[in-house]
Amino acid sequence: MVDTDSFIEEAKEEIRETVGDAHAIIALSGGVDSSVAAALAYEAIGEQLTPVYVDTGLMRKGETDQIRETFSFMESLRIVDAEDRFLDELEGVVDPERKREAIGAQFIREFEREARDTDADYLVQGTIYPDRIESEGNIKSHHNVGGLPDVVDFEGIVEPVRDLYKDEVREVARALGLESVVAERMPFPGPGLAVRIVGEVTKEKVEVARDACHVVEEEVEKHDPWQAFGAVVGKATGVKGDNRVHGWIVAVRSVESRDGMTARAQELPWETLQRIQSRITGQNENVARVVYDVTHKPPATIEYE
Ligand code: XMP
Repeated sequence: MVDTDSFIEEAKEEIRETVGDAHAIIALSGGVDSSVAAALAYEAIGEQLTPVYVDTGLMRKGETDQIRETFSFMESLRIVDAEDRFLDELEGVVDPERKREAIGAQFIREFEREARDTDADYLVQGTIYPDRIESEGNIKSHHNVGGLPDVVDFEGIVEPVRDLYKDEVREVARALGLESVVAERMPFPGPGLAVRIVGEVTKEKVEVARDACHVVEEEVEKHDPWQAFGAVVGKATGVKGDNRVHGWIVAVRSVESRDGMTARAQELPWETLQRIQSRITGQNENVARVVYDVTHKPPATIEYE
């Protein structure tokens, strides 16, 4: 990207030219990519755009309320509460790729219903350059690439940030005046907390992961990681009072990266790690152990599944 302001003008012009007088829809996740795509499209075509936010129940703490507030200027915003339907679909599913498929398929059902309901002709997507590369290499099935376009017979797809890297998307977000919580926000995977839970996704594990992610994000923010979170990775023995208990293991991960394709585990101060440990075990008596992940990518991935 050469110049942010001319990128924005050209992107809006492309959206206007493509969509014309028709109606467009975008799945707004609250992440910086879809937020920028939605904001560009909204500036370009206004209420001809319907942004749809699906609350899968796998989102971060307070995320849905924050979306409602940040995007309150978009009158056409729809917020869909789909937590129960997603958890039902995930029952008994343990394989990572099957989980992604179950989430992707349910997401498509939710989105399809909204797209038909709004008579949308065009689909706007926040696909960025690394998404396309990883999908082409078949490293992982990113659910924001593919899938949606096949759902409804859209006349066309608009991907205004398709050639940008994440840091460039953030620059555009700042230039568009999107609140710093969106512009500076850590990337969050489409399948949400489900890829931070090893094995079957249950409501209990989601709550442990959500609270752990919140603590880690708060404590690690000042070290400016690319991503930082807590994941529920299994069970281990611990002691509560006089009793031995079998509780959850939370793995804390904090990585530096430019685009998510490679990453380095961050060297965090011992006090920070101890504070994280004490807050996570303190807030949830079913957590027996907190560990810190020191693996880079490669050989590990950033997420756990
Ligand atoms: P991994 O775990 O593959 O993650 O090292 C690289 C980056 O991609 C995010 N990620 C996903 N994003 N759908 C997404 O939209 C997915 O299925 C998915 N899996 C991982 C991850 O959070 C990191 O930023």
